[in-house]
Amino acid sequence: MNKIIYLDAAASALKPKSVIKTEGDFLRKSYANAGRGVCARAVAVDDMVSRVRGRVAEFINANPAQIVFSSGATDGLNRIVNILTSQPSYSESSNFTVSDLDHHSARLPWEALLHYGKIRKMQILKLDENFDIKIDSVPKTDFLIITAMSNVLGRPQDVEQIISAARRKNPNVITIVDASQYVVHKQIDVKKWDCDFMVFSGHKIGADTGVGVLYIRDSEKYLPDKFGGGMVMKVSGSELVLNSAPEKWEAGTLPLTQIAGLGAAIDYLEQKRPNLYLIKYAYDELSKMPRVKILTGRDAAILSFVVDGMHPLDVGAMLGAHNICVRVGNMCAAWIHNAMGISGSVRVSIGAWNTIQDIKDFIKVMKKIVK
Ligand code: ALA
Repeated sequence: MNKIIYLDAAASALKPKSVIKTEGDFLRKSYANAGRGVCARAVAVDDMVSRVRGRVAEFINANPAQIVFSSGATDGLNRIVNILTSQPSYSESSNFTVSDLDHHSARLPWEALLHYGKIRKMQILKLDENFDIKIDSVPKTDFLIITAMSNVLGRPQDVEQIISAARRKNPNVITIVDASQYVVHKQIDVKKWDCDFMVFSGHKIGADTGVGVLYIRDSEKYLPDKFGGGMVMKVSGSELVLNSAPEKWEAGTLPLTQIAGLGAAIDYLEQKRPNLYLIKYAYDELSKMPRVKILTGRDAAILSFVVDGMHPLDVGAMLGAHNICVRVGNMCAAWIHNAMGISGSVRVSIGAWNTIQDIKDFIKVMKKIVK
């Protein structure tokens, strides 16, 4: 069998053995539902869920009651919009602020509100010449959406300073951070950031698909957006008593197997983050190819580029024909491509499994493609 060189970690990471083993063991030996049973096996699953919740809380410097298991970042980002717009205090005359760094899932749910007349105005954060958010131009806003690291450019944004600038203009601003790419490379500290909401997906850090983290700072304050089993303490006549957070946010059966794997993925990530020297090496080698225009910095966590005279899809297909997997297209981030005046790019992203030999093989094939 030919070797596959997987340089597409930013789309979804390959899974460490420990995650696969944890999930396999759970399914084979320990599976039961959580929050519903009283037998020892069910109680052990409750313990597992609360252990992983505690692990996530520690990982991002939060409290366990602020950690909600979602099905992924897109789910979390859409839920945040539903939560905020269904609170009695919500006003359709509010405005929101986004940026061209955003992934579609961070910005489109808000643009949809605008489209349907459920919010008054959209503002767009200014970017500097490196496509970083210009902190001194953060406007007065009701809802601020921040992409902590673009999935195209791979540069960490100064979330703490951006939020602090927004709070100086409006102390009641609600801030939402999409940390889906950031979490792979950098330590999240939600207290330091001082954000109201934060999301990331499990699958980008080596956990399974179908699980994500939704951090809600004031998790008792808001009315929940989903109702069902496991989130109510009492239902009788007109009386409805909700469980306290985090349970009140988790109606229905949780993705238990994936939650078990998420704990193992965090343990793994903390020990072994992707080696960004590989990106620097690829950057230096691609820089020698006159037809390649690199869009990202040498110190970025991701390498995106275009090839003069070639469509990104063709570059991706040619690399694919040599068993090299990269992502091509607009990466669900059309705005940053528009800002750069292109419709798509080729992206190289790495995980802890990648080696320098993977990059050397990639460069060898790129030389053939651009010759
Ligand atoms: N958002 C993912 C990516 O950047 C899927 O490829």
